[in-house]
Amino acid sequence: MKPSISVIGLGYVGLCTAVCFAAKGFKVYGADIDEKRVNDLSKGKSPIYEPRLEEFIKKTLRTRMFTPTTDIDSALAQTSMTFVSVGTPSLRDGSIDLSSVKHASSAIGNSLGKKRDWHLVVIRSTVVPTTCDRVVKPEIEAASSKQCGQGWGLCVNPEFLKEGSAIHDTIYPDRVVIGESDERSGNTLSSLYRMFFRRNVIIERMSMTNAELVKYASNAFLAMKVSFVNMIANLCETVPLADVTVVTHAIGLDRRIGPSFLHAGLGYGGSCFPKDLKALVAFGKKQNVDLPLALATAEINEKQPLRAVDLGEKLIGDLSGKRVAVLGLAFKPDTDDMREAVSIPVIRELLKRQAHVVAYDPKAIQQAVKIFGTSISYAESAANCIRGSELSILVTEWKKLGELKPQDFKRLMKQPALVDGRRLFDPSQLAGLKFAAVGLG
Ligand code: UGA
Repeated sequence: MKPSISVIGLGYVGLCTAVCFAAKGFKVYGADIDEKRVNDLSKGKSPIYEPRLEEFIKKTLRTRMFTPTTDIDSALAQTSMTFVSVGTPSLRDGSIDLSSVKHASSAIGNSLGKKRDWHLVVIRSTVVPTTCDRVVKPEIEAASSKQCGQGWGLCVNPEFLKEGSAIHDTIYPDRVVIGESDERSGNTLSSLYRMFFRRNVIIERMSMTNAELVKYASNAFLAMKVSFVNMIANLCETVPLADVTVVTHAIGLDRRIGPSFLHAGLGYGGSCFPKDLKALVAFGKKQNVDLPLALATAEINEKQPLRAVDLGEKLIGDLSGKRVAVLGLAFKPDTDDMREAVSIPVIRELLKRQAHVVAYDPKAIQQAVKIFGTSISYAESAANCIRGSELSILVTEWKKLGELKPQDFKRLMKQPALVDGRRLFDPSQLAGLKFAAVGLG
């Protein structure tokens, strides 16, 4: 028999977890305190743009396997396990804000206090090492008056899904990591995943603290790879005929290095890498341990967006009073998410240098308006964005933007000049255009 599941927190992670389990025939109650979000979801409307997500929401509402609700207590009462995927944003000092995790833990504790059946609580939010042992467990114990291991168990199950391919990553992960408070809890979650996948997926079981560490170490390593290639890219720019794309392709063929996350550009953004790096450094500080690689990774990343503006100035001179087209605003393609997007510091710097900015993104214009209001203009197509501009800067590598041809730049721009901040274009195809790119000497 497939167990029923509740999911608390219907953001990216929670929603994808909920609808993927529901699509595989598990009865899922998805709880969130945001009434509007729950109402929209009940009508089949996704609160975020994510490929295939709305299709999954609609399908699982139709089959009645997914029930969005604001009532955490009743969601818990009707299920035997609860995934927690509430947000863990940064505090001013970079450490993570655990208030939502604490709030969810005490709500769970209150419900568990009334339950007779054994219940499994699974923390899927990203939390710094020792949080489950030192914060979640005592909160639930205090609110339920039940010891962990007696009446309920606890697991940490970090997610590794990427925005833009979140549904695919949930169904086809490279591995599942389970940190467990005790064997029964680990066995229960492992067998849930075996029912979910019905194929061989690597399941790594460990202590809760180790699972918490795995998540931070993974994201820090991936961010470090990106900053590493950007460091090499900056070096390449100073060497005639050097090209970082050629170099990284060749180094990626070494199986010890691997080809992914070696794409040079204007740096990483998003809701995870910048925040997780800061939290890791803050945790290191608390432990009295220096984490110089994590610090250098973040430092390289903070400077990287400004390369685009400097390269633009090199191409066309002083930017003051010039119309500059910014192509792509989302922190990466296939999402409307602009959290920590590189486009933000790029545009801020352009405004500082008194350029007139016109921006285009296939999905993120609404988000951009919230950030920049009327300080910049917005175009409804890439062609209109570059029309009449004196400089174009490619910031997010949407596939659609790669379809712009050299003749489009020449025909539409006041003067054809392009900075490729993501190495989307083939330099050999751009003759007749003033052109500069990250990592191109
Ligand atoms: C990241 C991780 O990849 C996921 O495994 C993790 O689960 C997630 O964070 C999280 O902690 O929740 P995500 O932020 O969605 O996922 O996006 P990524 O695809 O990892 O990209 C992050 C940033 O790095 C983007 O701004 C992207 O443009 C940049 N990037 C990535 C590069 O500049 N170069 C690359 O080669 C790869």
